[in-house]
Amino acid sequence: MATHEEALKAVYKPSAEFQKNAHVSSMEKYREMHKQSVEDPDTFWGNIAKDFYWKTAPEGKVLDYNFNVSKGKIEIKWFEGAVTNICYNVLDRNVKDRGLGDRIAFYWEGNDPDDSAKYTYGELLKLVCKFANVLKSQGVKKGDRVAIYMPMIIELVVAMLACARIGAVHSIVFAGFSSESLAGRILDAKCEMLITTDGVYRGTKLINLKEISDGAMAKCKENAFSVKKCIVVRHLGDPVNGTDDKTSSPAAKRPCKNLRTPWNPDKDMWWHELMTDVSEECEPEWMGAEEPLFMLYTSGSTGKPKGVLHTTGGYMLYTATTFKYTFDYHPDDIYHCTADIGWITGHSYVVYGPMANAATSVMFEGVPTYPDAGRFWEYVDKYKINQFYTAPTAIRSLMKFGDSFVTKHSRASLKVLGTVGEPINPEAWVWYHKVVGDGRCPVVDTFWQTETGGHVVTPLPGCTPAKPGAACFPFFGVVPAIIDESTGKEIDGPGEGYLVFKQPWPGIMRTVYGDHERFERTYFSKFPGYYVTGDGCRRDADGYYWITGRIDDMLNVSGHLLSTAEIESSLVEHPSIAEAAVVSHPHKVKGESTYCFVTLKDGTAFNDDLVSELKDQVRKTIGPFAKPDYIQNAPALPKTRSGKIMRRVLRKIACNDRDFGDISTLADPSVVELLLENRPNIGDV
Ligand code: PRX
Repeated sequence: MATHEEALKAVYKPSAEFQKNAHVSSMEKYREMHKQSVEDPDTFWGNIAKDFYWKTAPEGKVLDYNFNVSKGKIEIKWFEGAVTNICYNVLDRNVKDRGLGDRIAFYWEGNDPDDSAKYTYGELLKLVCKFANVLKSQGVKKGDRVAIYMPMIIELVVAMLACARIGAVHSIVFAGFSSESLAGRILDAKCEMLITTDGVYRGTKLINLKEISDGAMAKCKENAFSVKKCIVVRHLGDPVNGTDDKTSSPAAKRPCKNLRTPWNPDKDMWWHELMTDVSEECEPEWMGAEEPLFMLYTSGSTGKPKGVLHTTGGYMLYTATTFKYTFDYHPDDIYHCTADIGWITGHSYVVYGPMANAATSVMFEGVPTYPDAGRFWEYVDKYKINQFYTAPTAIRSLMKFGDSFVTKHSRASLKVLGTVGEPINPEAWVWYHKVVGDGRCPVVDTFWQTETGGHVVTPLPGCTPAKPGAACFPFFGVVPAIIDESTGKEIDGPGEGYLVFKQPWPGIMRTVYGDHERFERTYFSKFPGYYVTGDGCRRDADGYYWITGRIDDMLNVSGHLLSTAEIESSLVEHPSIAEAAVVSHPHKVKGESTYCFVTLKDGTAFNDDLVSELKDQVRKTIGPFAKPDYIQNAPALPKTRSGKIMRRVLRKIACNDRDFGDISTLADPSVVELLLENRPNIGDV
């Protein structure tokens, strides 16, 4: 029996039993496929493309690109000239071409355990065609941007696929963002339309999404931009607007006394009213492989979120292929990803990747601790889930509740466990493997980003001997390298530095919406010839990749990427604040937490009221998930003589660590002692 220490350092090989049916069951096969994917992408991806429906099929050379800013514009083109439609491929191809219309696409599990539904591929195809016709009748056309601000309900999937069907570009905003953040994203993309929902329960908390949407539309108006139409799903049903249809809407099942849906008759329309008497047929808009599919905003180090743009053909193939191999998905498996569709994980691994494989998935509306901390494992048994994909922060928070919430459920169906979003500490990895997976299921720690579209460094469950905490090896098509910051050169063999990629894979983003120069500057200018992830990485003597976390001005709190600049600019909007500097601080459950140093304006006092006002300010401007953890009074900040804040020093102060290294460039070194004295007592986090 291995000791706990040994378990953390052990290498976990897939069982012979698992390998028997695996798509890739040996490292030799993985290496051979990887070699072909990077040396001969035309053959590798060309063969995969044959499984899909193309109006005009790709032929010959599939990739054309320039990754080097010093040689001109950064350009990435996969399957240029080919024509397809992703909605056709995830629905019509399954229903009409493969005869899978009766297969369940989604089991929907509501916030309350007794609220559930199921949708076949055939039913979804009809709903999507109907809603695509609704969009068209409201004037939405190919290339228009449509903002979607919705909870985890099936109408969200229907809305995004309907956009894809008619060639409109969806821009989904996670329904936990504030009205200000939603407005910023609508304005940047000049969205024609907003699709939202009356409200949603997360656990016991009611969130009035329509009210937040109205706040966002009002802010757009202040900025001289008017969203033309707002379509509202009646998910909860309120007694003011819509007591009329008691039977047709599922909302009738969950009437909500405390919800009032504000209504603007000039602009607002109920989804269920628009969906009556609409045709169930809708010819897809045939799209060039390089035409836009969607944009999704992600934090940027300057503070302004970036609209990451993905295109049609490459994204479709990449999400489908990563889904199949990383989770070792086989027909009839039941798969589940806990992510919200408002993040990239939901786009790629709740919707597009699974559906392209005609997978049956479970979609979950609620939170992991409601009604209790055994919720995940309860519905793992209910649906007999085989592949389960979640975030390290969820694993760590559930570990705290003790093993019995897990072990009282059988979990016998589980075959593969996945994680994503942030580095997973070996302790959590081993708990996930041993307690959740009963030591039987391979764990895949998938490293990727909004920008990469799909997994880029990941184990494959049937072949990779996994090490707890390592993302392991590159996926097909991906060529990683580690660059030493001081020399700007690639490191050979073991070493640590910047994680970069040397050539494009099909799922890589193509541009920042409306700002190609920012795309080039952010990802390609630091080391010309390479895509720079912004993450640090270590390669060990066996060639395994270990992601060490962000090395730019970004924080990863509970798997949500936040920019320090964005939080700082929110803090300085408060009338008492002169200056703010935000750094990351390690946190046992969230991975990282936000630690804010604030310098007050003369004549203002630092007290508990101010601290809660500041936390509230960030919650309102960005969203509840960005609320700072710690605020420290900083009469001055450690700056160099040229005025640059030394964040490295602030990170040490936040941790009460006096090992500052060289601080001789500080204009006033006494600031450091002052800040150490002023540290709040933050206990053991
Ligand atoms: O820092 C890395 C971390 O999450 C960042 C990407 O965040 P986002 O674009 O929001 O996408 C999250 C879901 C794909 C990365 O730059 N990250 C993601 N997965 C891992 C990870 N860090 C370590 N290990 C991972 N498996």
